[in-house]
Amino acid sequence: SDEELIARAHKRKHELGPDLFIPGHHYQKDEVIQFADVTGDSLQLAKVSATNPHAKYIVFCGVHFMAETADILTNEDQTVILPDMRAGCSMADMATRQQTEIAWAKLTEQFGDSIIPITYVNSSAAIKAFVGRHGGATVTSSNAKEMLQWAFAQKKRILFLPDQHLGRNTAYQLGVNLEEMVVWNQQTEQLENMHPTEEVKMILWKGHCSVHEKFRLQHIEQIRKEEPDRRIIVHPECTWEVTTAADDAGSTKYIIEQIEAAPGGSKWAIGTEMNLVKRLMNNNPHLSIQSLNPDLCPCLTMNRIDLPHFVWTLDVIASGTPQNVIRVEPDVAREAQLAIERMLLSL
Ligand code: 13P
Ligand code: SF4
Repeated sequence: SDEELIARAHKRKHELGPDLFIPGHHYQKDEVIQFADVTGDSLQLAKVSATNPHAKYIVFCGVHFMAETADILTNEDQTVILPDMRAGCSMADMATRQQTEIAWAKLTEQFGDSIIPITYVNSSAAIKAFVGRHGGATVTSSNAKEMLQWAFAQKKRILFLPDQHLGRNTAYQLGVNLEEMVVWNQQTEQLENMHPTEEVKMILWKGHCSVHEKFRLQHIEQIRKEEPDRRIIVHPECTWEVTTAADDAGSTKYIIEQIEAAPGGSKWAIGTEMNLVKRLMNNNPHLSIQSLNPDLCPCLTMNRIDLPHFVWTLDVIASGTPQNVIRVEPDVAREAQLAIERMLLSL
């Protein structure tokens, strides 16, 4: 039963003591988040993993790319574990190393050395290594603006992987026109909606988040019609149409901060993952909060980390045979670390 699993998780946490560290992403289920030592967005969790040298085992409650980042930033003798290896990110899977090499060869042929690659942290270690090797950096949704400014200070053009929406929304915020942005289609290996070469500033990889794409303009229009005083806030992984029509947009951390600072009685519609929206509703009964899409939008891969997988993970650690260990190959880790550190150092 759940009660037994919860009791066992507490017992294991107590037995493992400071050897165990549990970061939990905001999109994780409550049944797992209750055991997290720290909760955060992907940037906070990357930083916190790097500053906890005492924990022998880091049980990462989030998705695969986040656990890879934790492995890259932690010491050799620390073991990062993902409670369910199927907890991936469909957006991260939309850019493979081979596709990226092909794109780079074709784009540099067309644009010369005027491009710097930038990748959202929602990408595999291999993509981060590619970016690190070519002088670029990672970004998260909470620092994308600063990092694009950093990138534009070095090169005229950015190749932004793998989320076209975060790339488009952030560049637009910085004053880049839609006409100055093109999409690289990794399937056809061609640019879409091409404009004269000299105008191109942003080359957007054709990737997206299937959770955040479920928030649509019609949801915003419906709320505007029925409840014009309901404030709409969305994650920048939503489309440009949705992000620009909303009242505000920002990372998970930013959304949480806005809700926590909201005056009692205020009304909100939030366009982000369901577990976070539900937690914000439960923690803020003095506010009126709803999901922007009335059909709640779960991230199915985040949800693969559930109580049974979590407890099993602690059991096998306690028995001395940890499973689901995430180990990034050293050569890949070294180059990926360059990209991550360029981000951490330039903030
Ligand atoms: P944050 O960078 O806001 O934590 O978002 C991570 C993510 O996967 C959003 O879908
Ligand atoms: Fe990936 Fe989207 Fe899930 Fe975030 S919400 S982990 S981007 S699939």
